[in-house]
Amino acid sequence: MRPKFSVPADGRRSSRPGRAVVQANLTRPPTAQQPRIAILGAGGFIGSHLVPALALRPGARIVAVDVDFDKLPPGLPEVERIQASIRDPGILDAITARADLVISLTALCNPALYNTRPLEVIDAAYTDLVPLVKLCAERKRRLIHLSTCEVYGRRALGADGRPSRRMDEDRTALCLGPVHRERWTYAAAKQLLERVIWAYGRHGGLAFTVVRPFNVIGPRMDFIPGVDGQGIPRVLAAFMHALLTGGDLVLVDGGRQRRSFLYVDEFVNALLRIIDRPDPCQGQIINLGNDKNDVSIRALAGKMVSAFRAQRPGASAPRLRTRTAAAFYGAGYEDSVVRIPSMAKAARLLDWRPHISLTQMLPPIVADYLARYESRVAGNPRARATAPGLP
Ligand code: UGA
Repeated sequence: MRPKFSVPADGRRSSRPGRAVVQANLTRPPTAQQPRIAILGAGGFIGSHLVPALALRPGARIVAVDVDFDKLPPGLPEVERIQASIRDPGILDAITARADLVISLTALCNPALYNTRPLEVIDAAYTDLVPLVKLCAERKRRLIHLSTCEVYGRRALGADGRPSRRMDEDRTALCLGPVHRERWTYAAAKQLLERVIWAYGRHGGLAFTVVRPFNVIGPRMDFIPGVDGQGIPRVLAAFMHALLTGGDLVLVDGGRQRRSFLYVDEFVNALLRIIDRPDPCQGQIINLGNDKNDVSIRALAGKMVSAFRAQRPGASAPRLRTRTAAAFYGAGYEDSVVRIPSMAKAARLLDWRPHISLTQMLPPIVADYLARYESRVAGNPRARATAPGLP
């Protein structure tokens, strides 16, 4: 069995009863140059891009925490990998003891889970992270927390409840559906954690920045069903699965819903700016998205088919097929109709504006999926048999 997390050389143990936890390297003083950064959920999609970017920085000191690191490139001597769940007793205690800055990326952020495993979704987005917020406040650690654009809910609403075009961090009302629409469990849990972070910031001295990502896409996102995961991944991986297996691309409710897609490299660039600008970003909630890449899901499907066919001209023409949301996701699903970020705050605080269009980003993303999965899908009848959400 793989070790749960690394044990430091001095081997000291926590004095708290029931916590067989090692307080790792507490004696190492933080330096003024580079903060010691702990990244929770470092082995996921975002972490697999953020950690290598941070590791390039001179003097980088990174503690990467996750249950597995399959997506993280090997090497990276600046990165200490701690294989653990944030639910493991004492792990948050040990991590916040030694980090100057904690970046929290952990969540079950896949809409197919919100109405099928809502209790796990709520725990991952809220319950498991409240102790982290408290520890960061007590120990005066800076917290950069990744929340979600889902907190805005169905559509952008102004303070007067009327529809508005963009989702603004400090003005837009948060519009979730009724409780029996379990789609919103994730958004509600994420929103409540934002409010806890805010309250600790305002009343408990917590230094924080909350980030709301808007449909960040890129290589290593999610999984391909039947190959390295089961179920329905987010739309990019769901469409890639169909393209790789010669199946149909499913348009939920006809694909009229819209999303604004941001390339992961530009997202990571913005995160680095947040890390480097603690003062202007202190106590702020910041959207990170690309309003110029607002498209319908049907249009996304068309663009992905084009990018795929440019690289595999001999492949049979993929078909688009409509399914109802109830048939695809089950009861309790409900969709965001349109999601366009206000970009003003990110531009002002970070001097950041993304430029990469969908037409530019899709070819390298498709190429990456082909390189990683094509041979694994070809020799794997389970991948072909597993058409997510299709009867
Ligand atoms: C999800 C998460 O809930 C957000 O927290 C997260 O910020 C966001 O992804 C993200 O990637 O940033 P959502 O955009 O609804 O939100 O996730 P997707 O599963 O990628 O779905 C996008 C749209 O495509 C939805 O309207 C969905 O119904 C549709 N879809 C999905 C299809 O039409 N076909 C599919 O095969 C899969």
